[in-house]
Amino acid sequence: MDALEQLKAEVTECTRCALSQKRTNVVFGEGSPNAKIMCIGEGPGYYEDQMGRPFVGKSGELLDKILGVCGFNRTEHVYIANIVKCRPPENRDPLPEERTTCLPYLLKQIEIIQPTILVLLGATALKGLIDPSAKITQVRGTWLIWNGYKVMPTFHPSALLRNEQLKRPAWEDFKKVVTKYRELVNSNHFSAHC
Ligand code: URA
Repeated sequence: MDALEQLKAEVTECTRCALSQKRTNVVFGEGSPNAKIMCIGEGPGYYEDQMGRPFVGKSGELLDKILGVCGFNRTEHVYIANIVKCRPPENRDPLPEERTTCLPYLLKQIEIIQPTILVLLGATALKGLIDPSAKITQVRGTWLIWNGYKVMPTFHPSALLRNEQLKRPAWEDFKKVVTKYRELVNSNHFSAHC
């Protein structure tokens, strides 16, 4: 078993916090283990919990669409994970202590996958990974460096579904990701729209 599979087996059995008691499935993450881009969301919603896969509901559809326009997909370029691996009840935000308890799993995923670029989807990912006091509206669209990784914070897809006006700035953020990908990973990367 490789390191990622081994970690997945461990997380699947996790009972470190109360979220484990109500879950249908652990949502470990998915994508290419060789991905150079890692997208990090908040935590599973209803459909993710049912299916054990990240971003399979409405916001996942939008995420796949955005990635597609950038010329990226889950099987080749991107690995997708969340700050917490079990669904918070009623889709509430994960509590700070739930984030902290689950974080070592995400850190291990990052260490194993070694992506070049991290895309943080929304405030929970930003607060959970980088700084609990950081504001997504202030730092989105700017490159951060965290543990040597290039990090692009942007809005969560569900925020884009709630507020159409955020789509334009989010698109600008993803264009920066494509530019950085060409710079650092593949200068010939093709995308139809940017
Ligand atoms: N929202 C998230 O943050 N993560 C998912 O996996 C699904 C919806």
